[in-house]
Amino acid sequence: MRKKIITVIGARPQFIKAAAISRMIGNSYADKMEEIIIHTGQHYDANMSDVFFKELQIPEPSYNLNVGSNSHALQTAEMMMKLEPILLNEKPDAVLVYGDTNSTLAAAMVSSKLNIPIIHVEAGLRSFQKSMPEEINRIITDHCSSLLFCPTETAVQNLKAEGFSTEASNNQKANADNPSCIKSGDVMYDNVRYYGNIAEENLMLMNELQIESQKFILLTIHRPINTDHPKRLESILAACLSILKQNDIKIILPIHPRTSQKINESINPEIPQAIENAVNFIITDPKSYLEMLLLEKHARLIITDSGGVQKEAYFFNKNVLILRHETEWNELIQNQCAVLVDADEDKIVSAASRFMRNTKNEFPALFGNGNAAEIICNTIIEKL
Ligand code: UD1
Ligand code: UDP
Repeated sequence: MRKKIITVIGARPQFIKAAAISRMIGNSYADKMEEIIIHTGQHYDANMSDVFFKELQIPEPSYNLNVGSNSHALQTAEMMMKLEPILLNEKPDAVLVYGDTNSTLAAAMVSSKLNIPIIHVEAGLRSFQKSMPEEINRIITDHCSSLLFCPTETAVQNLKAEGFSTEASNNQKANADNPSCIKSGDVMYDNVRYYGNIAEENLMLMNELQIESQKFILLTIHRPINTDHPKRLESILAACLSILKQNDIKIILPIHPRTSQKINESINPEIPQAIENAVNFIITDPKSYLEMLLLEKHARLIITDSGGVQKEAYFFNKNVLILRHETEWNELIQNQCAVLVDADEDKIVSAASRFMRNTKNEFPALFGNGNAAEIICNTIIEKL
């Protein structure tokens, strides 16, 4: 009998991660698995949601909970209330969740209480900062999951340190009391291998933005630690303005709606004014996934606080400045391909010029072989 898997997604990076597994199910596992998608509605602007479903050919969600934006408690609670009757009615064999957003947490909590096995893709990541909302979401999700798919060895070791058994797979079925932790590699790497060349078809974007390959820095900012502390946001943007003064380079910032709001409402107005006057500082709407890959591929350097963008930088052999004081992707720091600059203006400016002078060129494979989705689908069939 086909296994009925309900996938719960709601935020931009989850649509992208889900694309890899939905593609694998559709192409190779349709006789063994049925996937039903629930969109929580956490992200809802067309350029934060619809564009990914269309571009990556993700099957239409069967349900949209339309929760929209709210405080953490209200947003998560509304998702939970709306998910419960659907799961009770659909009676899936498992619920599949990605990463560490409020959508992940809500689905994990509801499934756990209904004794539905949880499959967690991107398990075992830790920043060791419990003030970060994602850290709590991922710890709780890991600890109620039956199948935990780790993208890296570090993730496996993090789970081991929390008491999970990470021994090589045995023949036992997995459940919440006997979970299986599997190093699958990263589905985002699968995607970059699949879409990396297709992204070149969007080359006209470079003309539209008036940028040339290797002559721009790609910047993304969306973490509350940066957007919700005006001094930090000011410091990051001031650093970018200094980089533009000191180098013959452009900066392109596809802006997350959270960041856009904060720049307009809560920082010293002289900074947005200076950005408007700086012809080489280009702020643009959020980009589609293929457009984003194109920008990452052609950037001279990437500056970001995004988890996904950090890794994609690595996949494209790019150096990256991480606008945080820690990262879940420590391998990038250990390999000296990335540097933690926090929101420190001096560190950002000096690390940017150092990397632009002297690029680090070695990027050993750390995120699997590009077959994470296949490993995940095979294991679901075997273990549930
Ligand atoms: C969420 C995730 C974060 C992830 C990020 C990916 C949580 C706790 N955070 O953060 O882990 O890295 O998604 O992008 O789940 N907004 C819009 N339109 C939209 C979506 C959001 O205008 O389509 C604005 C709203 O003002 C909203 C704010 O952005 O309040 C933040 O959105 P929210 O989903 O709460 O958090 P993110 O910062 O996107
Ligand atoms: N991304 C995108 N368009 C953008 C910015 C990001 O398609 O304008 C993609 C990016 O390539 C990566 C993912 O979104 O695949 C990362 O999501 P985000 O930075 O929102 O969240 P995080 O990974 O930090 O949770």
